[in-house]
Amino acid sequence: MYTKTIIASVLIAIICVQFAESLVCYTCTTPNDCKKPKKTTCSNAAANETSHHLAVYHQGVINATSTRFDCMSLQYTWNNQVIHQLHGCLHPAVGPCNLSLKPAYGHYNKTHCRTCSGDKCNKSPAGKVSSSIYTILAGVVGLLLVKTYA
Ligand SMILES: *[C@@H]1O[C@H](CO)[C@@H](O)[C@H](O)[C@H]1NC(C)=O
Ligand SMILES: *[C@@H]1O[C@H](CO)[C@@H](O)[C@H](O)[C@H]1NC(C)=O
Ligand SMILES: *[C@@H]1O[C@H](CO)[C@@H](O)[C@H](O)[C@H]1NC(C)=O
Ligand SMILES: *[C@@H]1O[C@H](CO)[C@@H](O)[C@H](O)[C@H]1NC(C)=O
Repeated sequence: MYTKTIIASVLIAIICVQFAESLVCYTCTTPNDCKKPKKTTCSNAAANETSHHLAVYHQGVINATSTRFDCMSLQYTWNNQVIHQLHGCLHPAVGPCNLSLKPAYGHYNKTHCRTCSGDKCNKSPAGKVSSSIYTILAGVVGLLLVKTYA
């Protein structure tokens, strides 16, 4: 009985830590990289990194320091090929979807651009593996709780 309670408590603690943790975004900087995006906890340094990548193709990327971050995902194609893809933590003030491209890159087609707030909301372009892991985990915890307290 004690064992079950302890297991349940530990699992609940793990889940709570997940929710209490600061914002996590998928990050990747090239189409190839984005097949296996990393998860990054947002910070000014991480958002600066995104700004830096945005500034390669866009004009008017502002220098920002933030206390709250968003996630973003952006994709450009040319001749039906994904030519540029960027996912990452964002200074909300940057507004990446409103930026205009540098003239040299003006022929790129913006096929996807989104900013969002919430953990890993800039969905992994490679699929939804991690969200289904959480669904399974939530199911397991639910079952354990039912078994422990029923
Ligand atoms: C991020 O960039 C801003 C503006 O350029 C700068 O003031 C700040 O120190 C940078 N922060 C980090 C953690 O690199
Ligand atoms: C942002 O900071 C960089 C160097 O840190 C500077 O070269 C650039 O002019 C700044 N841009 C703006 C819009 O303030
Ligand atoms: C850009 O998108 C438009 C509309 O979706 C399409 O007609 C055009 O062929 C695309 N251009 C290139 C270079 O892919
Ligand atoms: C982008 O531009 C539109 C219209 O110009 C504006 O309504 C919107 O607030 C802008 N978004 C950001 C993030 O700046």
